[in-house]
Amino acid sequence: MGILRHYEKLLPLTYKTPRVNLEEGSTPLIELPRVGARLGIRLFGKFEGCNPSGSFKDRGMVLAVAKALEEGKRAVICASTGNTSASAAAYAASVGIPCFVLLPAGKVALGKLAQALMYGAKVIAVKGNFDRALELAREGAERTGCAMVNSVNPYRLIGQRSGAWEICDFLGRAPDIHAIPVGNAGNISAYWAGYNVYADMGKIKALPKMYGFQAEGAAPLVTNKPCPNPETIATAIRIGNPVSAHLAKAAVKESGGEFNSVTDQEILEAQKLLASEGGVFAEPASCAPLAGLMKLKRENRLPENILVTMILTGNGLKDPDTAMTQVGSPIEIDDTPEALMKVLCQN
Ligand code: F0G
Repeated sequence: MGILRHYEKLLPLTYKTPRVNLEEGSTPLIELPRVGARLGIRLFGKFEGCNPSGSFKDRGMVLAVAKALEEGKRAVICASTGNTSASAAAYAASVGIPCFVLLPAGKVALGKLAQALMYGAKVIAVKGNFDRALELAREGAERTGCAMVNSVNPYRLIGQRSGAWEICDFLGRAPDIHAIPVGNAGNISAYWAGYNVYADMGKIKALPKMYGFQAEGAAPLVTNKPCPNPETIATAIRIGNPVSAHLAKAAVKESGGEFNSVTDQEILEAQKLLASEGGVFAEPASCAPLAGLMKLKRENRLPENILVTMILTGNGLKDPDTAMTQVGSPIEIDDTPEALMKVLCQN
């Protein structure tokens, strides 16, 4: 039914807010018994790749675009490592307003670029990194009056709280540990706020510990200082100066969690493991939490038998190029039963 209808009472909607809807949300919380057994925990992945534009961004974008329309804005603008732009472009298309997206040139996964272009956004490739593109987008919004739909827009993070509500509605409780990738640091902050809303309403008795995972080459929250030249294969979280750093730090501190970083190699191994032993294909950035949990396990810092949720923030299909570097090619055969049998009967 879409986020705006599903959580109408928990969102800042008025009778004037258009009920924008691409049937976002209600994504599956998938138990991953084989992967969980390796870690000695009960592990669930919330597969946000099932959202209409293939990432968690749709939860906040639907509200940001609805509010922009309510406020009489005529266009939207954002900077993005790819997913925000795909989402903004999709919602702008669905309500019929222009969308401008600023991307770090050459650093966006192919599927995400194809999405923004297909949805009809004006796509601008900036010769600079995401942090610089974000500064430019803010200036563009100020000068033109376009609605800024990055997570500096408060409605984005409010909409993204819905992920926490769905987890609690499904489990009847909060997890012990909530593991999540951190880039611009909005989503971890939104989840923490969402869990707190449910705790205040008495819907959950205990809050989770928030564990934020970054890529080693783009880990400003782990090193505790901005990273001027962020670099990682997980391009979605290739961010050196997160705008919501203060909120994310508060979430981790208040919950008794931690920030940690993982190498690109660990991310790729986790991505392969999640697909081949979990049956879920998530994009590289989304696999930083699993890589992080494996690291905690190796360090004997992961308690046994606890309930852990990871947010699988984006669909693996968005970045086939990176996936293909991890796997072999198909086995080519002649079109005969004999050739087929030779393959089927090998070991
Ligand atoms: N995972 C994916 C797949 C993302 O696309 C992002 C952020 C994150 C995790 C990190 O979330 O920024 O709230 O800490 N992508 C943004 C974008 C920056 O432009 O699509 P965050």
